[in-house]
Amino acid sequence: MRKITLIATVLFLLLLNVRADEGMWIPYHIGRVIANMQAYGCKMTAEQIYSSEKPSIKDAIVHFGGFCTGEIVSSHGLVFTNHHCGYDAISTLSTKEKNYLDNGFWAGSFEEEIPAPGLSVSFLVYMNDVTDRVLNASDRSSEIKKIKDEATADNHYRADVKSYFFGNEYYLLVYETFTDIRLVGTPPQNIGKFGGDTDNWIWPRHTGDFSIFRIYASPDNNPAEYSSSNVPYKPKYFLPISLKGIQENDFAMIVGFPGRTTRYLTQAGIKSLALERYPERSKILKAKLAQWWSEMEKDVSVRLLLSGDYASYANSQKYYEGVMNAIKSSPCLAEKSKLEDAFMKWVNEDVNRKSQYGTVVSDLEQLYTENRELNNVIQYLAFGYSGVQISQLGESLAAIKESLSLKTPDQNALSQVIEGLNEEFGSYFQSFVKAADQKVFASMLRIVSQNLDKKYWVSCMTGKQLSKMKPSTGKDIYDMYAAYTYQNSILTDSTKLRKFMQKPSLAVLQKDPGVQYALDVNEMFGQYIGAVRAVNMKEEGLMKTYVKGLREFKSNQFFYPDANSTMRISYGQIKSYIPRDGVYYNWYTTQRGVLEKEIPGDPEFDVPTSFSQALRKGNFGKYADKNGDLPVGFICNLDITGGNSGSPVINGNGELIGLAFDGVWEGMVGDIYWEATKNRSIAVDIRYVMYVIEQMSGSQRIYNEVKIVL
Ligand code: ARG
Repeated sequence: MRKITLIATVLFLLLLNVRADEGMWIPYHIGRVIANMQAYGCKMTAEQIYSSEKPSIKDAIVHFGGFCTGEIVSSHGLVFTNHHCGYDAISTLSTKEKNYLDNGFWAGSFEEEIPAPGLSVSFLVYMNDVTDRVLNASDRSSEIKKIKDEATADNHYRADVKSYFFGNEYYLLVYETFTDIRLVGTPPQNIGKFGGDTDNWIWPRHTGDFSIFRIYASPDNNPAEYSSSNVPYKPKYFLPISLKGIQENDFAMIVGFPGRTTRYLTQAGIKSLALERYPERSKILKAKLAQWWSEMEKDVSVRLLLSGDYASYANSQKYYEGVMNAIKSSPCLAEKSKLEDAFMKWVNEDVNRKSQYGTVVSDLEQLYTENRELNNVIQYLAFGYSGVQISQLGESLAAIKESLSLKTPDQNALSQVIEGLNEEFGSYFQSFVKAADQKVFASMLRIVSQNLDKKYWVSCMTGKQLSKMKPSTGKDIYDMYAAYTYQNSILTDSTKLRKFMQKPSLAVLQKDPGVQYALDVNEMFGQYIGAVRAVNMKEEGLMKTYVKGLREFKSNQFFYPDANSTMRISYGQIKSYIPRDGVYYNWYTTQRGVLEKEIPGDPEFDVPTSFSQALRKGNFGKYADKNGDLPVGFICNLDITGGNSGSPVINGNGELIGLAFDGVWEGMVGDIYWEATKNRSIAVDIRYVMYVIEQMSGSQRIYNEVKIVL
């Protein structure tokens, strides 16, 4: 009987042409792929994974901070996520004296758990297909508003209506958001970020990329702002933790919030993004990171202040580099071109199709070609010019300047913009490191001068002051001009800026070189943003038509939409891979690799001494694999992307076996094009997580709280 069901399933899948492993599926439609999941070894039903009525796995998953995923692992609202997801909160809570980033932190009781202001987590309460309502409405945006209002009329939920498949489908998503989130534990970063940026995006991996938070709620279990009377949240569902171990080819699934993919890009679209825009972005970010690091490595406080942003820029920079590199050996361009040819052949067979889709592929190509220059300038504007912190107050300064320039300044309007600036003031200076920003400023002017036509230069670059600068040892004119600017601007000194705000004067604004830069950048945005938006809208419209056509063309296939920061389910298997000819990558790593990579005193490969000793001693007890080794990481062929970080890797019984945290170097094209043989997700094995907690906290507190399956 089982055999017959299996054969039926396989036939059914062949018929539907569902490609195994690829795909970020909408939980609401999990029924479409559950048979395939079960054929791989999933023991759960669709309802146990996603249900809008009964507690299901989806109730154990949170959108963490809006940029990552976390999972509930206890009846007291305990959340596991990645270390790199908690990184910003951990570094913000750290000081030179209480340096949790470098030394780790473990709360011994509820009272010791530290509020992380600004952090929030959201549960998906339910979702619904509202495509017909939206597409049939005469006024779509008011219909969307109506749908959201109805969903939140008698509750405290937040509703969102999102477009899928470029506006071919719409779904309502209803969320419950909690804002009292507290740090429970984190390993020191030489475990949590072991391998640093060198190992980032790379397998084999030995990073203990996890951190632990807790959701607090009001005594009646509802979301509430931080209060000492709040209590640990009682979740609808939480994931048990399996210490049973895993094998290659085991079924695995991931539920999380992938941020963005562009899998439907045409060949021309891929070229524009990955071969034209990414190289510029990578170059700009690389220059900025080098300047920041030169200041960070000198001073712990500076390092703590900048490390959150530094980590995220470094991650992006290496990502762009990885895509550019992997695309060289990827079949994506050839495959896309094959697909487009076949599509056009199908289109040209029929007059109706011809009138609908006849020019869509070439229109897209034309759009990219026509806007090549605009796209290029925008990279320098968004990543270069704006990457200098003093540009950030540009909009407020422009408003002040405008008010002051009136013949009779409107005092009311003026005090309003000053108030606005006052609000920005705190956060602006909070993460402002003058020396670091000055270096970035110089390096951004330099990189613009080398790469952009003069007509895109900010005014100072062709101005008198800069032309007067004389290079001195090791410093070029941009360094000299940066020094001059940062010495003479109200934007680099909180006292000077405060003084200006008390008595704003046009004369000060007019002669301040920093202000001039901020105003120039702001003006440039004004000049190009409209054009960029128009291009984006046009692209979206063409993509809507193209994807509609593709779905008709391949009508026997289930399509999954690009990631859009809404909940998705990916499934597949634990799997090794062959990165290149003659090389085989095993599917798991152990403590042996941590010790092999260990470099005492190195910022990326140092291992805490006591931990290194424990690893050497061995004896990993219930955490050991069948060889007596401590499992550290593993890979699976599940389809994920940024935003999935922290997602649970779940086995066929619905138990937690790991936390997903990265992708592999050879599969970097993944966000654009799925390549089954090279696309792998990296996870930290849950046994390593539990071992690190026990070893580093010296306590059974977490072990006793979670539900272990042995
Ligand atoms: N590459 C991972 C991602 O984008 C982030 C890894 C963070 N670790 C690091 N060493 N920067 O999700």
